[in-house]
Amino acid sequence: MSNAIESTLNETRVFPPDARATAGATISGIEAYRKLAQEAEQDPEGFWRRQANEQLTWSKPFTQVLDESDPPFYRWFGDGELNVSANCLDVHVDNGRGDKTAILFEADDGTVTPITYRELLARVCRVANGISKLGYKKGDRAIIYLPMSIEAVVAMQACARLGITHSVVFGGFSSKSLQERIVDVGATLVITADEQARGGKHLPLKPAVDEALKLGGCDAVKHVIVYRRTGGKTAWTEGRDLWLHDVEAGQADTCAPVQVNAEHPLFILYTSGSTGKPKGVQHSSAGYLLWSLLTVKWTFDARADDVYWCTADVGWITGHTYITYGPLAAGLTQVVFEGVPTYPNAGRFWDMVARHKVTVFYTAPTAIRSLVKASEATPEAHPRNYDLSSLRILGTVGEPINPEAWIWYHKNVGQERCPIVDTWWQTETGGHMITPLPGATPLKPGSCTLPLPGITAAIVDETGADVEQGNGGFLVIKRPWPSMIRNIWGDPERFKKSYFPSELRGYYLAGDGAQRDADGYFWIMGRIDDVLNVSGHRLGTMEVESALVSHELVAEAAVVGRPDDTTGEAVVAFVVLKGNRPEGEEAVAIAKQLRDWVAREIGPIAKPKDIRFGDNLPKTRSGKIMRRLLRVVAKGEEVTQDVSTLENPAILEQLAKSQ
Ligand code: PRX
Repeated sequence: MSNAIESTLNETRVFPPDARATAGATISGIEAYRKLAQEAEQDPEGFWRRQANEQLTWSKPFTQVLDESDPPFYRWFGDGELNVSANCLDVHVDNGRGDKTAILFEADDGTVTPITYRELLARVCRVANGISKLGYKKGDRAIIYLPMSIEAVVAMQACARLGITHSVVFGGFSSKSLQERIVDVGATLVITADEQARGGKHLPLKPAVDEALKLGGCDAVKHVIVYRRTGGKTAWTEGRDLWLHDVEAGQADTCAPVQVNAEHPLFILYTSGSTGKPKGVQHSSAGYLLWSLLTVKWTFDARADDVYWCTADVGWITGHTYITYGPLAAGLTQVVFEGVPTYPNAGRFWDMVARHKVTVFYTAPTAIRSLVKASEATPEAHPRNYDLSSLRILGTVGEPINPEAWIWYHKNVGQERCPIVDTWWQTETGGHMITPLPGATPLKPGSCTLPLPGITAAIVDETGADVEQGNGGFLVIKRPWPSMIRNIWGDPERFKKSYFPSELRGYYLAGDGAQRDADGYFWIMGRIDDVLNVSGHRLGTMEVESALVSHELVAEAAVVGRPDDTTGEAVVAFVVLKGNRPEGEEAVAIAKQLRDWVAREIGPIAKPKDIRFGDNLPKTRSGKIMRRLLRVVAKGEEVTQDVSTLENPAILEQLAKSQ
């Protein structure tokens, strides 16, 4: 157990919402929360019917709320039809809100470009018309590999408008990862940019697409549409490559939204699991949109005059739900940021909050922890130097937040005035699941508090029975909810096995361990599988292992996580080479080579922080690698566990030494 989690469990401070937070809140006071939760509990079908009718605009109303005839393949609002982009854009323009700013885009170099809902709709329509003229239509799959930009939101919304299922690949993933996703999803179209601008540097994107398409299996891709972001030099394949501005040019500002079935796959987003191959998490249209919108309204207490800012990248689920879909469906004005929190200095976030008068700010614990450190090192970057009085709600997502970071955020950024919503959820859940409500829930630093109305979260043992309060167990969701994962693209068996194991009574298994305290508050303890959380990003240990063993020098590799003050967890790799165990400078050089290799195979986020070389790995007599021992060794702790089943105990000493 990490120190962070231990200190979390000893946390006793409680911060009830004050009058400023409860006044006029969407859900005001804990009683209002309980009432809504009770309505959902007593009559789930009626509750979801009411929400779906009140929140969404349907072209064909649904009659059936939930079809449970083939679990776990649930269908929500299954005979209804709508269009997601029309629900995010047209609804506002049609209702007199067209001149409201939808996005305030801030580029890496500080240039700000605002766009209204009317302009955004026109832009989406022009791009959709251009794509449709090229022959793409409902049911096709498009890969989007774009930097944070208005164009990324436009590309996603244009796909949604045409019923094209998008799969966004984070710009930090390598050409190899990109190719695997292109092949798995069966993409026929790729939308990318020449380069991305981050931290004052220009980084290539289009070359990674060119390389990916050469890696094989991508013959179905007919076009690569390229957004000219920097004007950097780009190789060009005539006939296949098209500039986005040419695709848009001359297209009409209107485009009839293609109505799709509620269950039509809006997108597929790849995430790491406990095997080497990432899973294509398939989401629906209506259920997903409903929950994106409702959670923006509830968790962020959305108001018409808010300036909302989620710092995530659209390459992750947070960017999908809390940038591209939820805030737009809620008609908010939001900041979209291209750059990094530390450029030109570590005060960038606070400077932007002050300049744009941000009211709701949503970021990751890892960003907070790194800014705590940075503002100690460079006092000019400390939040106290900025006018943060516009802020009213703060949020975190992606990993447990340790109470120290929580208190720092609360004091220095929230000025002890802003509630912090610590939102627990996953790529698979589509939206927030367990989270405080800013105008209702008393906060405890480090706890994601209580499940949202309609979410039947529980902690169970390995037979699916509820554990007693105070005991740890598996976090499950007992009943289906509208924005849940629908399938793993192309692998329904893996979907069933991974998320609905038969011994757990049909519950959705989140893959996290958790505990509940006497107030019913949830405390997330981290993953129970071989998935790491590095800077809020999910990484499968097997994924990194497969990358390592595909290197010509490597015979065997085992990867574990180690608690890290800044990134939450860090990747530690234990490697056996085909040749002799390297030492000294040679070991340093090979470790660098292997790190770069992993960056090329997966992406820089997967680079091991520490690589240790051994003559062998600690194994049981039957040949199984003993990872629990490696976790201890990675932490630099002495092995006190029973090693009697270990075939080669001497190896532990060798692996304890870093190169
Ligand atoms: O372990 C949990 C952790 O992140 C995992 C989900 O990762 P991903 O699908 O990439 O989605 C991240 C953004 C939603 C979870 O299984 N996690 C996410 N939020 C929290 C969290 N752990 C603790 N507290 C959270 N608030």
